[in-house]
Amino acid sequence: MSPLDILIEPWFFMWLSISHVPATIRALVAAKDYGTLFSPSGFREALFGTLWATIGPNIKAKNEECVIALLEGRIKGGCIQDKVVSTPIYGTVLEIGAGSGMWVDILARFSSNVNAVGGLNNRKNTGRGITKIYGIEPNPISAKALQERVNEVGLQDIYHVIPVGIESVNDPSAWDSKIEPGSIDCIFGITCLCSIPEPEKNIQLLYKLLKPGGHWFVNEHVKISRGSPLLRFYQWFCNIGWSFFMGSCRLCRDTEKSLRAAGVWQEFDLAQLPNQTGYEVIPHVVGTLKK
Ligand SMILES: C[S@@+](CC[C@H](N)C(=O)[O-])C[C@H]1O[C@@H](n2cnc3c(N)ncnc32)[C@H](O)[C@@H]1O
Repeated sequence: MSPLDILIEPWFFMWLSISHVPATIRALVAAKDYGTLFSPSGFREALFGTLWATIGPNIKAKNEECVIALLEGRIKGGCIQDKVVSTPIYGTVLEIGAGSGMWVDILARFSSNVNAVGGLNNRKNTGRGITKIYGIEPNPISAKALQERVNEVGLQDIYHVIPVGIESVNDPSAWDSKIEPGSIDCIFGITCLCSIPEPEKNIQLLYKLLKPGGHWFVNEHVKISRGSPLLRFYQWFCNIGWSFFMGSCRLCRDTEKSLRAAGVWQEFDLAQLPNQTGYEVIPHVVGTLKK
């Protein structure tokens, strides 16, 4: 991307979001969901769900190679490695902010489920395999699409859609069960810690759900933490409009700091991708943490 493209990128996403307002209104009227239509926060979330259905596949296509390498344990210092250098995803997995299920087919490749399209038993792969997945997604439009995607990929035996926010995963009154602390082998989430409320508190809650020795596979856009103060100011400025048009997503989250503060880590490998110039207004970090 040219420096100009990098600077206008956040405004391009906001413009795309505005262009989805009519489709969101039409969908809510068709569903007779007037409560959401006339609630500013509800409408903002519905708009983001509609927008993500359009832009999500392109974003996935751009990130897919990196995410597959991450789940295969082939990322170190933000770079894709030829060989496995850390533990591939396995066991009971918590997918945070699963959205409309953009990554379900990729998770299926790591699943030990014989019925899953491309599952471990159908395909040679690394690791022990995923045995169970909780997909956390509070946006009702996205949660419905997520369930449809899970069924389409044939993962319904092991993938459980939890239609609440991460803050409610251990609250049995919010959904019909509860995830116990120390019961999760791996946490996986793609650009979702930018969207959860009270990040310090909820990242700590997620940390507690991980078993000792458990892994957290991270791929997030984050606050600019070094470089020009002017660029940092520009990111903060863009975030003002961003917070109106991009659901609960925020540009200036210091996610690395929140993850480090969540608790003690045996390994903490999180770095910017090598193809980034250092001038991104939406910089990304990727890597694996071991509790
Ligand atoms: C940028 S989208 C990413 C979706 C998905 N990970 C993907 O890559 O397609 C962020 C997601 O976080 C979800 N989200 C918002 N608040 C949340 C919360 N409290 N707990 C969990 N997820 C949340 C949003 O609904 C949205 O689906």
